[in-house]
Amino acid sequence: MDALRAADRLSLSTDNDWMRRARRVDARASTRRDILTEIGTDATVYPRFVSRMKGAHLWDTDGNRYVDYMLGYGPVILGHADERVNEAVIAELAHGNCMAPLWSSRQIELNELLCEVLPGAEQAYLMKTGSDTTTAAVRLARIHTGRSRVIRWGYNGWHDWAAGSPNGIPPESYALTSTFDHSDPDSLRQAFATYPGEVACVLIMPFEEGTTTTAHLAELKSITHEHGAVFIFDEMRSGFRMAVGGAQEYFGVQADLATFSKAMANGYPISALCGRRDIMSGLALTRISSTFYASPVEMAAAMATIDVLRHTDALARVWRLGGALQHGLRRLIADYEVAAEVVGYAPMPFLRFTDADPQRRDEVRNRFYVTAVAGGALLHPDHQWFVSAAHTDDDIQATLDVCRVAMERAVG
Ligand SMILES: Cc1ncc(COP(=O)(O)O)c(C=O)c1O
Repeated sequence: MDALRAADRLSLSTDNDWMRRARRVDARASTRRDILTEIGTDATVYPRFVSRMKGAHLWDTDGNRYVDYMLGYGPVILGHADERVNEAVIAELAHGNCMAPLWSSRQIELNELLCEVLPGAEQAYLMKTGSDTTTAAVRLARIHTGRSRVIRWGYNGWHDWAAGSPNGIPPESYALTSTFDHSDPDSLRQAFATYPGEVACVLIMPFEEGTTTTAHLAELKSITHEHGAVFIFDEMRSGFRMAVGGAQEYFGVQADLATFSKAMANGYPISALCGRRDIMSGLALTRISSTFYASPVEMAAAMATIDVLRHTDALARVWRLGGALQHGLRRLIADYEVAAEVVGYAPMPFLRFTDADPQRRDEVRNRFYVTAVAGGALLHPDHQWFVSAAHTDDDIQATLDVCRVAMERAVG
């Protein structure tokens, strides 16, 4: 692979042209703030529009190439446009993709596969998005327990019960959800004590940017069960990434229900709610459906992806390459004596700047990421990163070379 560039600034003129057009008609583009701007300016230094992707690489509309550590916010575990997955998709597409209210045999095959590889999956229900599955999990927990309140932790989707801000949500509905400090079991006990007998479920990411332990997750589960609530893992990021069987397999802690999407199908839109049959049977008492839930194309993508994850060294590569990135970054932190730490698990690492002075922290962080992205390492400044099986040792080395320049400038 070519070395990444050592550019000071990206040329984003085509990107800016698209953005001008977008601002008029695209409600999403015109309301989202840019991922990274230089401090004191509102000019983006991060690409917004993509022209193509292949393997570990992504090209923006100005032709700049990046090693991609966002991977669509995590789904692209095998690399962009993986031919094994695309072949399965194209073969399935030839037979049509929309059949509600009927089903395809792919649905049964994929659900059999999920029940085989995911701990605790007695049944599975296929949907489209992560938010679909976490919202369905909450509905089923409410049916199972006859209670209304939800305790949640992490990002769990955009629907009313999980929204991070109350805007646009009836206060009485928003007030039914509370959060707690994942690292402190007593704060979960406290949340239960505040609403005795009212909590239907605890729905949590097993971890987010940092790390956790089996004992800790087991304690959260046991507190939840002591209070008669349903314990739910949101495995959107950890699923099919920490291990084929996700965090439940990696930590050996089984939830009552678990939700999956993202790496399950290497970027095709499909999700799955899995778990105990007695809780899943609540589906008979409600209606959770979409015209598109039965689409076999995404199911074929999921089966092809899971097949590769099960039968190749893909996840071992992801762990090894992510570990090399973490190791290299730790050395850079030491070499340049930067107030920063490398956090998280190797398949989903992150670099956190830690200077106690917030202004200095923001400046150092900003200079680091501006240089890294200009150099071609697509690292997100505010969200954990992801590594795919299509990354190579050369990609990691090239990224670390760019990060060395970025560290130098960050502290300079
Ligand atoms: C942990 C977690 N849960 C839920 C979701 C929501 O999934 P979706 O964006 O597919 O609705 C996400 C998406 O980023 C996520 O990371």
